[in-house]
Amino acid sequence: VNMQFITLLAVFAALCVFANAQVLPPYTEDCQHGMYANHARCAGMPPTFEVNLDQDPSVRWNGVVQHKKKELVAMIGQIKLLVGAISPKIITAVDQYLPELIQKLPEPYGAEIQGIAKASGLPDGEILLFNIFYEIFTVCTSIVAQDDAGKLYHARNLDFGLFMGWDVKNHTWLITEYLRPLVVNVNFTRGGKTAYKSVNFAGYIGLLTGIKPNAFTITLNERFNIDGGFVGMLEWIMGQRDGHWTSFLTRTVMDKASSYDEAMSMLTKEVILAPVYYIVGGVKSGEGAVVTRDRTKLDNVMAMNTTAGEWYVLETNYDNWTNPPFFDDRRADAKKCMDYSGKKGVGFPSIFDVLSTKPVLNQLTTYTALMQVNAGTLETYIRECPHPCYPW
Ligand SMILES: *[C@@H]1O[C@H](CO)[C@@H](O)[C@H](O)[C@H]1NC(C)=O
Ligand SMILES: *[C@@H]1O[C@H](CO)[C@@H](O)[C@H](O)[C@H]1NC(C)=O
Ligand SMILES: *[C@@H]1O[C@H](CO)[C@@H](O)[C@H](O)[C@H]1NC(C)=O
Ligand SMILES: *[C@@H]1O[C@H](CO)[C@@H](O)[C@H](O)[C@H]1NC(C)=O
Repeated sequence: VNMQFITLLAVFAALCVFANAQVLPPYTEDCQHGMYANHARCAGMPPTFEVNLDQDPSVRWNGVVQHKKKELVAMIGQIKLLVGAISPKIITAVDQYLPELIQKLPEPYGAEIQGIAKASGLPDGEILLFNIFYEIFTVCTSIVAQDDAGKLYHARNLDFGLFMGWDVKNHTWLITEYLRPLVVNVNFTRGGKTAYKSVNFAGYIGLLTGIKPNAFTITLNERFNIDGGFVGMLEWIMGQRDGHWTSFLTRTVMDKASSYDEAMSMLTKEVILAPVYYIVGGVKSGEGAVVTRDRTKLDNVMAMNTTAGEWYVLETNYDNWTNPPFFDDRRADAKKCMDYSGKKGVGFPSIFDVLSTKPVLNQLTTYTALMQVNAGTLETYIRECPHPCYPW
C-alpha cells in the first residue's frame, strides 16, 4: 500500500518537473489604472452559495455540488488524465486506498468530503485527491493595506495550475481553464447569520481566502520548499497525522477565533503539513501581517509597522528576507504599483489595479478577491489575462 502512495506523491513531484509550458520572456507592463470601474480583464463574477454549518457536514455542500457537478466532473477528469498519463495504476490506487484515509481527517472535514463525493457521484478518493492538490500547487499574491483613516483592505490573486499541462492550441494552462468555472463565493452560516465567507473551488473544502466580518481576514499563499508540502502530505498519508492541513487550519481559525489576535495566535502556533504564508488582516490600524510558517514552527512575522510609515504588507511566494528568482519577481512589480498608486487613494479600485497589472496578473490567475473587514465585503472577479501574458 505504502509503495503506491509513494508513487502517487512522486507523480505530483514529476508534474512539477515536466513543465511543458512554452517559456516566454518575462512580460511586464506599466502599472494599470482605472481597471476596476469597467471590470477590465475579468470574465465575470462567481455565484454565491450558502453552506449552512448547522446542517450535517455530509449534506451541507449539496447546493454547491448540485450547481457545479458538471464542472467538477470535468476538472477531476482532467486531473485523472494528467496523472493517468504517467501511470494508470495511480488512479486505481487513488480509488482503492484514499477512501480509507478520509476517516482519518478531523471532523467535519472527512464527512464533508464524503458528502461531496456522494452528491457528485464521484468516488471518495478522487474528491480527496482534488483537495490534496490545493495543499501543494497554489501560487499567489496577497496584500493587506490601510487607508489614511486606518481602514483595512485585504486582497489577493489566486494563481493555480502551474506545470499541470499546457494547452498547446489555446496557449493556456489546462487546469487553470478548468478551474475558473469552479470558483464560487461561499457564505458559511450558523444560526441564520453569516459566520464567515470564503472564495472556494466547488468540491474543495479548505479555505484559501476568507473574511470574518468585523473580526479578521485571511489568505493563504504557498511557500515553495522541496521538502515541504510533499513530505508533509506523504507523512500524513503514511500515518503521521499530528499536523493540520494548511487550509483546514484557516477554516478552523475562521470558525473558532473571534479576533485578529486569536487568529494570529492559532496561525503562528499550530503544527501544519506544509510550509506556507498566512496573510492576516484585522480591524484596527496596523493590524496586517505576513506569517511565514515552517511545518512545525514559526519562521517570521512581518507586521505592518505604521510607526515607520508602512501602510501595507505584501506577499507573493517568497520569504521577505530573500530575493525572488529573476523569472518570477511578481513581488517587485506589485510593490512598484502599490507605491505608484500611493497611500492616499487606498481602496478596492487602487488595489484592483495592482492585481490587474501583468505579471501580477498572469495566465495562472483564476480569481481576484477584494475584502473589507468592517463592511464584511467580499468581491470576487474571475480573471483572464489577454495576450501577451506571462505563463506565471
Ligand atoms: C480552447 O479554445 C477553444 C476555442 O477558442 C475553446 O472552445 C476551448 O474551450 C478552449 N479550451 C479550454 C480548455 O478552455
Ligand atoms: C449569507 O447568509 C445570511 C443568512 O442566510 C444572509 O442574511 C446573507 O444575506 C447572506 N449573504 C450573502 C452575501 O449571501
Ligand atoms: C523580513 O521581516 C522581518 C520581520 O518583520 C524583518 O525583521 C526583516 O528585516 C525583513 N527582511 C527584509 C529583507 O525586509
Ligand atoms: C517600527 O518602526 C519604528 C520606527 O522606525 C521602530 O522604532 C520600531 O522598532 C519598529 N517596530 C517594530 C516592531 O519593528
